[in-house]
Amino acid sequence: MDKAQAKQQIDELTGNLKEHNYRYYVLSEPTISDLEFDRLLKQLEYLETQFPELAHADSPTHVVGGSVINEFETVKHRRRMLSLGNTYNETELRDFDSRIRKAIGGEIEYVCELKIDGLAISLFYENGELVQAVTRGDGVQGDDVTANVRTIRSLNAELHGNFPDEFEIRGEIFMHRRGFEKLNRERISAGEPAYANPRNVASGSLKLKDSGEVAKRPLDITLYHLLGENLSYKTHTECIDAARSWGLKTADTTEVCRGIDEVLRFLEKWDKKRHALGFDTDGVVIKVNSLALQEELGYTAKIPRWAIAYKFQTESATTRLLEITYQVGRTGAITPVAELEPVFLIGTTVKRASLHNANEIERLDVRVGDMVFVEKGGEIIPKITGVDFSQRTEKSTPTKYASVCPECGTALIRHEGEAQHYCPNEDGCAPQVIGKIEHFVARKALNIDSIGSEMAKTLYSKGLVKDIADLYSITAEDLLKLERMGEKSAQNIIDGIQQSKNVPFERVLFGMGIRHIGETVAKKLALSLGSIENIMQANKENLLGIDEIGDVIAESLVTYFAEPKHKALVERLKEAGLKMQAPIKALPQAGNSLSGLTFVISGVFSEMNRDEAKDLIEAHGGKCSGSVSSKTDYLLAGEGMGPAKMEKAAQLGIKIISEDDLMVMISESNSITQPAQPSEPSKPSQTSLF
Ligand code: IVH
Repeated sequence: MDKAQAKQQIDELTGNLKEHNYRYYVLSEPTISDLEFDRLLKQLEYLETQFPELAHADSPTHVVGGSVINEFETVKHRRRMLSLGNTYNETELRDFDSRIRKAIGGEIEYVCELKIDGLAISLFYENGELVQAVTRGDGVQGDDVTANVRTIRSLNAELHGNFPDEFEIRGEIFMHRRGFEKLNRERISAGEPAYANPRNVASGSLKLKDSGEVAKRPLDITLYHLLGENLSYKTHTECIDAARSWGLKTADTTEVCRGIDEVLRFLEKWDKKRHALGFDTDGVVIKVNSLALQEELGYTAKIPRWAIAYKFQTESATTRLLEITYQVGRTGAITPVAELEPVFLIGTTVKRASLHNANEIERLDVRVGDMVFVEKGGEIIPKITGVDFSQRTEKSTPTKYASVCPECGTALIRHEGEAQHYCPNEDGCAPQVIGKIEHFVARKALNIDSIGSEMAKTLYSKGLVKDIADLYSITAEDLLKLERMGEKSAQNIIDGIQQSKNVPFERVLFGMGIRHIGETVAKKLALSLGSIENIMQANKENLLGIDEIGDVIAESLVTYFAEPKHKALVERLKEAGLKMQAPIKALPQAGNSLSGLTFVISGVFSEMNRDEAKDLIEAHGGKCSGSVSSKTDYLLAGEGMGPAKMEKAAQLGIKIISEDDLMVMISESNSITQPAQPSEPSKPSQTSLF
């Protein structure tokens, strides 16, 4: 393919994919299947690797695959990013309305928009392309986070219609609660402390160095303020309607209200309805609709006179902070907890609240003895939102964060760039060891349900189990020596431990409780590398080659297995009879007949699905990659494979094989008595497909 053809295809694919993104993420009306979308995306990805200079800066491929390492240059806002005045009740809101009517006269037309709890962003578009995205910062200058913002799917649409050549549009980046909860479930399963709230995660995500990591975070955006030279719109709603017609994501809950009474009805309605929304809102922004009137009203030094935020009342209570205690998780992560004088809040008595980490304590400047405000937001655990400084006594001193582990006295450490402190004494710190045992026996890991939380504590405190491998040497006699232990219970425990030897490798790997290795990652590793030996031997580069394995996970694995004691633990688990390799599904036995060969799989097969084909190749030592390149050895072609792949393979002289050919390659050098013997790969017969 020559450059001109490539350009035409890249332009076409980019345009089509953006249109599909728009239909999916903005309109929620997709017209093609996810599979078809992925196929088109892969085609574009391939063409972009061949002709990188032709890739569009805002290509849809940046949303999924490609990583850009950010530098976050500070840039000055072309127009200052102001904040809004706040009101908390009807009287203050009526005052706002009176001030405006006094200045202008007559009844005012307002626009009411939900105030999404996220972070403000300013976007610049030139000729329909997003060219710059800047955070609010201090309002005068912010950080250039363009690469990260480009990964937001609802922004990845080709603009339509009659948009101005240049414009700025501002909005709020946020995370839906469902995405936030999913992220937290994954974090907890990987032994990481949960994030505090969707807002913090959204804001933290935008500051991630690797845009590939940002793309994995389910961020969304709503745009609410259009700015530009010579725009012909007369009202704020016209601006927003225009932006929507260009394909930008704007709110669909906005209403025009005539006069302040209608505004109040909007507030009343949304104070109740907001809880049913999938994201957090903390109020309503009320804006004068006419742009001419906005200009007439102007700005104070800090805020516009033509807009105000009304904050919803949250159920909050005031109580005294009695003590700050520290919890130690199974990976050693320390979470500070506020011990409160019991207070009644929305149906329950609150005695404790999470303080998250040292930064949060510093931010709140919260001290023992303070009267604090406690709120129940969307989260289940109540949070401390502030301190009533008027009630603070003179002798109060700033909180000194714990420097040693409250459980074992070891000095705490804090890794660079992380908010959490850790206790490094992983083998000698009781809650860490007990936590690891609890994690190991959990349903999703080794599923030994006869050992609960209490039993894990007892086994540890009585010296029977000091690490997870010790579980496999306890006997019924050992157990019978424990208080209140009957024969039946003891036998149940022994049976449960025995049965755990049948649990698949991926769950054993998850159960080992390695930092950052949650359920999904464990599965991925088990499938891709097949055995604990391969995982232990893999270096960072090997690991990074696996789909969805990023820096943090690769680093965590390499560090973990660099420790001889962890290798010894694996040996003991293996000796105990636990499964330490993944089953090979399609063939009775694996080998390495495909070792050193890279395959690209495309199309639909009759004997297996694509995942199975991948498993099969990997089980025999081969590698799979998503796109055809000079490094590809074989293209495994099924029915309906993409023409781009086929063409590329033909150009590069790559062999195209059928699934039957693959079977021949595997079986020819695969002897039952000789597993894993290195051998020359057999070359397939030229495929009958072409
Ligand atoms: S208008 C000059 N509209 O609230 C106009 N802001 O407290 C300023 N926000 O920094 C912003 N939803 O982060 C506006 N519909 C909305 C909003 C909104 C959320 C945030 C935004 C702003 C803050 C001001």
